[in-house]
Amino acid sequence: MCQSLLVLPFLLAVVTAGRSPHADLVDKLERSPEGGRYSSNIFEDGRLDLESVIRKYQYPYESHHVVTEDGYILGAVRIPHGRDQNNQPGSKTVVLILHGLLSSCADFVLLGPGQALAYMLAEEGYDVWLLNSRGNFHSRNHTTLDPNRRGDISFWNFSWDEMGRYDIPAYLDYILELTGQEKVHYIGHSQGSTSFLVAMSMRPEYNEKIISFQGLAPAAFFYNNRNPFYLNIAPFERVLESLANQIGIYEVLGRNDVLTPILMQICRDGIATQALCRLLIQYDKSEGVFNTTMFPVFLGHAPSGASIRQITHYGQGIKFGTFSRYHHGHRKNLVTYGRVDPPPTTWT
Ligand SMILES: *[C@@H]1O[C@H](CO)[C@@H](O)[C@H](O)[C@H]1NC(C)=O
Ligand SMILES: *[C@@H]1O[C@H](CO)[C@@H](O)[C@H](O)[C@H]1NC(C)=O
Ligand SMILES: *[C@@H]1O[C@H](CO)[C@@H](O)[C@H](O)[C@H]1NC(C)=O
Repeated sequence: MCQSLLVLPFLLAVVTAGRSPHADLVDKLERSPEGGRYSSNIFEDGRLDLESVIRKYQYPYESHHVVTEDGYILGAVRIPHGRDQNNQPGSKTVVLILHGLLSSCADFVLLGPGQALAYMLAEEGYDVWLLNSRGNFHSRNHTTLDPNRRGDISFWNFSWDEMGRYDIPAYLDYILELTGQEKVHYIGHSQGSTSFLVAMSMRPEYNEKIISFQGLAPAAFFYNNRNPFYLNIAPFERVLESLANQIGIYEVLGRNDVLTPILMQICRDGIATQALCRLLIQYDKSEGVFNTTMFPVFLGHAPSGASIRQITHYGQGIKFGTFSRYHHGHRKNLVTYGRVDPPPTTWT
């Protein structure tokens, strides 16, 4: 009896290892009346952690941790070569891929072999590095701050400005050193291109390390934004941030977030509110682009969390029509930047 009790924690650890951030929601969907719509293979990809998904499809997988100047411990996934073609290890041209707001490196893997960008590039002979920005599920760690401790709430004190100034340079230094390459290709989706533009503007010495930059839905200036939801909330950017902070919310749509199960209800396949789901999570509005067959896979791995301030900072872009540093409020701007308005994100 005693022995089996001792074994139990060990067994639990084995059973819970290798699960995706929202595997519990995937289990729930599978048991629900809608569960019959999807194949068990799709459910499995939704439930497995990213390493297991990549290994399941027999691609090489490496996990790397990179520490930024300001102490954030970032998690990158490397697919160093292809499976069917270009499948020998060795020196290859490096391509970095960085995800959008609330997302993670899983975005470039989940569609599977033959469809997902990361696999296609590996087959074409690239050394593929899937990066994660500070604060998401794979980069939720710091050398001195604990993102779960109330006393360490300054962990969440960042937007895509810090991702550009610290995360991207740290990744470039680490990856160039490790691979012995001098330059890389860079692909950024949405916020992944916003932070790249910040990096190249604020740390111009890094431009010479880039062969090419591909911006997928690149985002910098927002004065033409027509999304009514964003237009209506943008004027309240910092009011909403401080309200959220006052009730103890600094992180949105992270691992144990209360909103994620609500989103799941809204976003289930074939129900009338899918338009709202797309508005909220901003999958492409055109019909047929969001592959609803794959919904359990996306549900397991996304959203991946962000700080409230990332969203506030985009709200400021819409409100002021500028591509600028974070607006702390006039008094704090003076202390931080030496001026009342935040400086534009341009060459320094
Ligand atoms: C955070 O990083 C430290 C140091 O690398 C490591 O020991 C710890 O396990 C990490 N924590 C999490 C939750 O990943
Ligand atoms: C948050 O960061 C800003 C600048 O990035 C800094 O001025 C401020 O003091 C920080 N606040 C905390 C609580 O760490
Ligand atoms: C959705 O994804 C599945 C699995 O990759 C694929 O078989 C199917 O053709 C896709 N559907 C659309 C509409 O792209």
